[in-house]
Amino acid sequence: MYERACRELNSDQEARWLVEEVASSPWSSALDEVVTKQSGSRFEEMLRRRGEGEPLQYVLGHWSFRALDLMVDDRVLIPRPETEGVVEVALQLLDDIAAPDPIAVDLGTGSGAIALSLAKERRMGEVWATDDSAGALAVAGANLAGVGGWAASRVRLARGSWWDALPDHLRGRVTLAVSNPPYISNGEWAGLDLVVQAWEPLSSLVAGPTGLEDVARVVAGARRWLVPCGGLVVEIAPHQADEAAALAREVGLGAVDVRIDLAGRPRALVARAPRG
Ligand SMILES: C[S@@+](CC[C@H](N)C(=O)[O-])C[C@H]1O[C@@H](n2cnc3c(N)ncnc32)[C@H](O)[C@@H]1O
Repeated sequence: MYERACRELNSDQEARWLVEEVASSPWSSALDEVVTKQSGSRFEEMLRRRGEGEPLQYVLGHWSFRALDLMVDDRVLIPRPETEGVVEVALQLLDDIAAPDPIAVDLGTGSGAIALSLAKERRMGEVWATDDSAGALAVAGANLAGVGGWAASRVRLARGSWWDALPDHLRGRVTLAVSNPPYISNGEWAGLDLVVQAWEPLSSLVAGPTGLEDVARVVAGARRWLVPCGGLVVEIAPHQADEAAALAREVGLGAVDVRIDLAGRPRALVARAPRG
């Protein structure tokens, strides 16, 4: 299997991942012939899909994000390393706020990567994971079930557009809002990696003519929903740093800052609600 995958995919590392995936499936633990056949056909299917250009993460059906192993398919964006860094920024902000039983929201949760990381890595009161895509929320729900335990019991899923997904009783009570909204412009779309264009959901990536439309919607609602001194963290494209910071100041948020990612590029807009 391994040699064939190496040959067909032209990648030693990917061949190893595919073989490990088949070897670690429950089917391979039994020894009978039927089971071996099932593993073999699963391997053939994965090789075919990868050979057709489908991203490795969708072919494997899961991908790691911080402390999580998340189910992913073409209903959700593949969680990115940059977003792991955005979660790190959000956790530091949460620690600075130091509220007991904090309430966090992850607007545009996709696979649930941000919301589930917050729930797993800190003792949260509630974490609301929202999306306007029913498919994305189904994936987030599956990942929530996978996390299980106390952390999962803190997480609520809600469908709707940005802040509108949240119940009214959360107005003015949110300790921390985090979002990785679509931030690519219509014009930038054509310049994206062809694999991303072909396989990842357009609605996860493209915001509109300027690319800042969804960032602006998330920033605009923050003052209404955050508790006094509550925190906002929004993932942005590096070239959007100045405009995103200006949007946050325009709506009356304070302590506005843009944090850099591991590659040294501006990546996370950070702001705080006024004292009240
Ligand atoms: C860039 S993806 C981020 C997914 C996930 N949070 C992550 O970081 O991997 C953006 C997400 O926003 C969702 N989205 C797009 N438009 C939305 C809207 N109007 N309201 C809520 N969510 C939206 C998409 O369905 C997608 O899941």
